[in-house]
Amino acid sequence: MTTDYSLICDALSKHGYIVLTDFIDADLTQQLYKHVTALPETVFNTAKVGRQQSVQQLETVRNDRTVWLSETHPIEQTYLDALDALKIQLNRHLFLGLHDFEAHFAHYPPGHFYRRHVDAFRGQSNRVVSSLFYLNPDWSEQDEGQLVLYDFTSDKPLQIVQPRFGNTVLFLSEQFPHEVLPAKRDRYSIAGWFRTDKVV
Ligand code: OGA
Ligand code: MN
Repeated sequence: MTTDYSLICDALSKHGYIVLTDFIDADLTQQLYKHVTALPETVFNTAKVGRQQSVQQLETVRNDRTVWLSETHPIEQTYLDALDALKIQLNRHLFLGLHDFEAHFAHYPPGHFYRRHVDAFRGQSNRVVSSLFYLNPDWSEQDEGQLVLYDFTSDKPLQIVQPRFGNTVLFLSEQFPHEVLPAKRDRYSIAGWFRTDKVV
């Protein structure tokens, strides 16, 4: 499969976001799913918001569990390579000046959520484009756990995305408040950010 980068870049420049169903190929999706579900629960950390929030404050905002992807793991590396190829195209077509990409696996146990938030505040962050990739086989609407994208002008959802196996979402990090609704099943995703600085 060849990726239609110009379609992705056009959508990002026109609408600021895009939902893709086959950006990552099926084999890699399967491997990532097997890998993330085999990770021991002890490697996942309670996710952080901002700098100095207590765990108690935090859990009213989000209570997913996360673990960073690393280049030292071959399957994780393959995913990071695919997003790096996208980064080159985003820079070529949209002149975004992206330097680096960072990503974590996120596990939302049943009932867990991430309240409405933005991934980057204008002028305060190096995160420019957000990416989400879903690793949930046989997900149905009744399982809930949707990603809901908003714009700043309205409380009405702009786009509701089912976290279905193989779905990818890309959006401009500063422009779209979004939330993860509580799910009825374990929900796995990879959340990533293209940045204008280097990840240390
Ligand atoms: C995030 C996030 C959404 C999702 O981690 O910042 O918004 O659908 N995740 O997992
Ligand atoms: Mn987010």
